[in-house]
Amino acid sequence: MSDAATLPTSVREAVLDEIWEGLNRPVPELSPRFFYDRRGSELFEQITRLDEYYPTRTETALLERWAGPMMERLRPAALLELGAGSARKTRILLKAMEELLEGGRFIPVDVSGDFLKDVARELERDFPHIHVVPEVADFTAPFQLAHPLPHPVLVALLGGTIGNFTPDAAVRLLGSIAARMTNDGDRFLLGVDLRPGSGKTKAELEAAYDDALGVTAEFNRNMLRVVNRLVGADFLPERWCHHAFYSEEHGRIEMHLIAEGAQTVVLPERGRIDFAAGAGIRTEISAKYDRPSVDALFARAGMRVTDWLTDSRERYALVLGAHA
Ligand code: AVJ
Repeated sequence: MSDAATLPTSVREAVLDEIWEGLNRPVPELSPRFFYDRRGSELFEQITRLDEYYPTRTETALLERWAGPMMERLRPAALLELGAGSARKTRILLKAMEELLEGGRFIPVDVSGDFLKDVARELERDFPHIHVVPEVADFTAPFQLAHPLPHPVLVALLGGTIGNFTPDAAVRLLGSIAARMTNDGDRFLLGVDLRPGSGKTKAELEAAYDDALGVTAEFNRNMLRVVNRLVGADFLPERWCHHAFYSEEHGRIEMHLIAEGAQTVVLPERGRIDFAAGAGIRTEISAKYDRPSVDALFARAGMRVTDWLTDSRERYALVLGAHA
């Protein structure tokens, strides 16, 4: 994410509008995409290594266990990964692809172009038989690929990214993925964090979003610094408290920032917003699923679940999907 000074005027206007509109809602809200400047990405990286944050290491273990059998069975010509980021976990899939299939194409899709190109270069060096074709795009909106997609294709959405989507937005995203799955052998691989149940308590889930070291709290507050820099707002991050809780009603974690005392924030060219003591801003939803809710989501998007792979405590799942 760039600095205010480098934002083109039209983009700055759109971002200002979005922030102003979000903060003036009945439940004031900011988009989780404002977490990820350089510091935010570093903090998220730290979160993935916390004792309390089980999703990353659970998903990694599931990939280690299932990547081989999956590649042997599906034999994809291409792996298309949405929101690839550093592609750290994708390496497990690429290793299996290279060892078992002697090659293939990897198409990482990410909004961050420079980063994506660095990652692509490293992957080509480490996997000489994989052809890496990075695609700079925001996969949350419709996008076109620069090259025709080889089939069968495996489309991956990992890391619990689906959690940031509302139910309707998740259906739209999966629908757009289903539309790319034009061959019988095409498959969708989803990594999804599960609701509290037999193996995982609500306390354990909430602890993953409110760690003892306060890294998640710092990650949350960092959003206000990003917004300040992006549009010249004057939030005082140290006067906002981290609050994360699991909503049984919505089956999701919500992260909020709570005003410590009354305060006023000025958004340049838009106006001032008054926050009473204890008022909150929602910064993230992280939806959690179970088998029935994944089945329902896939059905609404024109897909069906072919495989449901979980850890022994059913904290996290890898889901394989095909056309309905
Ligand atoms: C990157 C959206 C999967 O929801 O667990 C981690 C982000 N927020 N801790 C998640 C996050 C707070 C993460 N996702």
